[in-house]
Amino acid sequence: MSSKRIDAFLSKLGYCTRGEAKKFMKIHEVCVDEKRVYQPSIKALHSAITIDKEVLDPETITILMHKPSGVVCSHDDSGKLIYSLLPSQWQYRNPKLSTVGRLDRDTTGAILLTDDGELNHKLTSPRSNISKVYKVTLAHPLKGNEGDLFASGTLLLNGEEKPLLSAKLTIIDSTTVLLEIVEGKYHQVKRMFGAVENRVVALHRVSFDKYSVEDLDEGQYIILNQ
Ligand code: URA
Repeated sequence: MSSKRIDAFLSKLGYCTRGEAKKFMKIHEVCVDEKRVYQPSIKALHSAITIDKEVLDPETITILMHKPSGVVCSHDDSGKLIYSLLPSQWQYRNPKLSTVGRLDRDTTGAILLTDDGELNHKLTSPRSNISKVYKVTLAHPLKGNEGDLFASGTLLLNGEEKPLLSAKLTIIDSTTVLLEIVEGKYHQVKRMFGAVENRVVALHRVSFDKYSVEDLDEGQYIILNQ
């Protein structure tokens, strides 16, 4: 990591804008190698800076959250945004934290958020082949042919040009299943069950890749890159 101006760190990490840095440094005890500094133009390493005796937030953040129902994976929706569950300072970071893909408002479970654009792109690319496991509660009992159809790699959803890649269905009981998919098409799980004349009444993403939220309460998150 390289040296940067203190005001660049403060604005990038969401503490204040560059223009507010001087005032911020009067109010808060900003130190470089434990020596108080007041000039926003001073250059320092991220690891050398403390604010009110606390180390700086990480330069990039990737988190795993247990998304609760009722929050939206968007930066500009009129509803309650997933970002409102994070420390307010993080909402002013530049680049912004963004969800890796999206879960519907009523879907709960594992979602990653990152401000690393390259990582986000890599994880959401159609070629990423990342496993996502959903626990699905259905309105009607299974008919019996769903597992074979989903595994076949021939299911063509309305509006799609190519059939879905093979997906794995594990039956828990007649209206509860686990579904493992490697794609992330719009409303994919709900549309898959719509295609077999069923309806999803509750959807929970158990895991995304190797990350599972079984140890997190709804709304809780952990930082992965520390
Ligand atoms: N598939 C859906 O239909 N909804 C989600 O939120 C995720 C996958």
